[in-house]
Amino acid sequence: MFDRVWLNASLATMTGDGLGIVEDGAIATRGEAIAWVGPRAALPGPAAETHDCGGAWILPGLIDCHTHLVFGGDRAAEFERRLGGVSYEQISREGGGILSTVSDTRAADEAALFDAALPRLDALLAEGVTTIEIKSGYGLEVATEARMLRVARALGAAREVTVRTSLLAAHAVPPEFAGRQGDYMRHVIEHILPATADLADAVDGFCDRIGFTAAETDALFQAADALGLRVKLHADQLCDLGGAALAAAHGALSADHLEHSNPGGFAAMAAAGTIAVLLPGAGYFIRETHHPDIAAMRATGVRMALASDINPGSCPARSLLLMLNLGCTLYRLTVAEALRGVTCEAAAALGLADRGRLEAGLRCDLALFRINRPAELCYWIGGNPNAGRVVAGRPA
Ligand code: NIG
Ligand code: FE
Repeated sequence: MFDRVWLNASLATMTGDGLGIVEDGAIATRGEAIAWVGPRAALPGPAAETHDCGGAWILPGLIDCHTHLVFGGDRAAEFERRLGGVSYEQISREGGGILSTVSDTRAADEAALFDAALPRLDALLAEGVTTIEIKSGYGLEVATEARMLRVARALGAAREVTVRTSLLAAHAVPPEFAGRQGDYMRHVIEHILPATADLADAVDGFCDRIGFTAAETDALFQAADALGLRVKLHADQLCDLGGAALAAAHGALSADHLEHSNPGGFAAMAAAGTIAVLLPGAGYFIRETHHPDIAAMRATGVRMALASDINPGSCPARSLLLMLNLGCTLYRLTVAEALRGVTCEAAAALGLADRGRLEAGLRCDLALFRINRPAELCYWIGGNPNAGRVVAGRPA
């Protein structure tokens, strides 16, 4: 006897190395976990509660493994300047960009940050997201970094979703450390990191020519390693500083962006089990013409995830489904790569071994879609075919 069963559905289980399709399938649960998955005709027993999916498709609950969901203000005025020809990098060098969001975020209290982030979270949940990573990085001081991380966890308590937090204090140099980048990185390592470690599941950094050097990032990662925190990295977004290989050398969960990374970096990531997180929305929105080298990624066998990168500067995108389309259109991902990128590979990018596939024993997080074939999730631009979520075995 099962607790619940979902049937009259097609399944994309993500088992094996493709979509793992089961037509006319069933998923049965006990408690929070999947107890059985397979063709409906082989379902071994009855359930206390039966859900007829009316022919919908079921995927593992979607996982957005890279977001900056919590921030104050917006950067629509900066966007207008960029429309006039000023580049994202130029605005950053003038002291705008990330730092303008830092001043808006420092000025916002916990309730204001929560209220601004909640509708953004709800937009993602409405598309079938059941797990989300949320970074700090717009505080760049203990109090505001901690506030952002507390708000991220409060969002997870307010909604049926798992939130994983990442400390991104090494995102930019705050105004009070202007011209003293090395001193700020020491401040991150000696003060911000120890003071906020309890609120963070991982440590992230921005290694780039408008971010931190490889040596500074290496020092940050050594400090994170010493605290037992896993690391991840915004790597090689605007130029190749060897971020991919650096992340791999620290056994990072993921290296993200990777527009300018070299094939040697991908080989190191593949060997270390570091996931490549692709963020096509950011490439699109800052009009980056240099795309990540997907062919080299495939050749090295590095695993690829796909995420929204929702943030006020480089990607104000309140949609993960849109990233499926952008990943396929801009980067020529296959449908299987894109859909695995927001399910099983995204779970790996967060170090979560209990989800991302439809498989007995895993947590029962599901996303239901009213579509005729999985490719539709990558094909439509706009609109939302989500027909429900299941979180830890319960309809959410
Ligand atoms: O992932 N590259 C650094 N961080 C963000 C953008 C942050 C911002 O512009 O506010 C990103 O693209
Ligand atoms: Fe980011």
